[in-house]
Amino acid sequence: VLMSTVLGIETSCDDTAAAIVCSDGRILSEVVSSQTDLLSRYGGVAPKMAEEAHLQVIDQVVQQALENANLKETDLSAVAVTIGPGLSLCLRVGVQKARRFAGKFRLPIIGVHHMEAHALVARLVHKELEFPFLALLISGGHNLLILARDLGDYVQLGTTIDDAIGEAFDKTARWLGLDMRRGGGPALEELAREGDPHSIKFSVPMKQHKDCNFSYAGLKTQVRMAIESRNINTEKNVISSIDCEDRKARADIAASFQRVAVLHLEERCERAIEWALGIEPSITSLVISGGVASNQYVRLRLDDVVERNDLQLVCPPPRLCTDNGVMVAWTGIEHFRLGRFDPPPPEDEQEDTV
Ligand code: KG4
Ligand code: ZN
Repeated sequence: VLMSTVLGIETSCDDTAAAIVCSDGRILSEVVSSQTDLLSRYGGVAPKMAEEAHLQVIDQVVQQALENANLKETDLSAVAVTIGPGLSLCLRVGVQKARRFAGKFRLPIIGVHHMEAHALVARLVHKELEFPFLALLISGGHNLLILARDLGDYVQLGTTIDDAIGEAFDKTARWLGLDMRRGGGPALEELAREGDPHSIKFSVPMKQHKDCNFSYAGLKTQVRMAIESRNINTEKNVISSIDCEDRKARADIAASFQRVAVLHLEERCERAIEWALGIEPSITSLVISGGVASNQYVRLRLDDVVERNDLQLVCPPPRLCTDNGVMVAWTGIEHFRLGRFDPPPPEDEQEDTV
């Protein structure tokens, strides 16, 4: 089998990322330029602003990936790029860059599904992970339980009917006045360590629905009400360090929210394992990936679930759980080696045909 080396480009949300990965699993370089700092001031991802930020750094990020890998453009075998799902204005920045780059250097191009990349990066980290496997993908925009039967053959067991868990983490963090510069999730996880997870009795979403779908909108409302009933000041940036007298009250809310948010994941995973084993009895692993999978409490609780079911938990390191170029390059490699790619785009392609 010929060795291939693929450049991966990711711009679906607020991170501009590029990486170069080898088909033997070596990561030659990885670069991420994050806008979290910029966007935290505006209460979310504003597409136009995010697009601008991507445009400003994309050339530099790709150039840096090449330099760090000590490679020339022509040493590459192909270019992989996220084509969705995500903000279309943002995706376009990456796709345009990838097409121009691939056109100029006559490289094949591979369009990658963002969620597939979150799942498949587990096979880069964990070489023994074979299909079929089960994957829980938890991020800011998505909550998915999938049965990955083979490359490109995925059965969706569950999805969110409203918000994703990352969105609930981010909103709760914002309402609690936490520092959003690294994203709300990490700040909330940190504060939750100081709180009593049983102090507030939030109810677990969708208890009565015996399926694998998720819902976080109701829990968000419960949190909002808990915050209001305790007279906690929810104005932005009031307590950037939250060194305030009601810190314990905030920590209790954070811990109680996190416990129930994750209980919902645990319940759904229990059922998904049962379903998946019914379809594919040879499953041995549950993969968790996506930004929220970098949460230590999530990992701990899901580890219990898989152990009870005699499976193993496969969880990429945090930097590969949040959005990154490595997962895109790796997913590109997985497709490339099966001959699934497009020929190099024309060198003189016009921008508006992209
Ligand atoms: O996968 P990702 O980087 O981007 C999307 O595809 O959405 O996920 C970002 C989400 C954000 O909502 C962020 O707050 C959350 O992942 N997140 C966390 C943690 N780290 C990131 N949530 C909880 N605990 C964390 N440690
Ligand atoms: Zn993502």
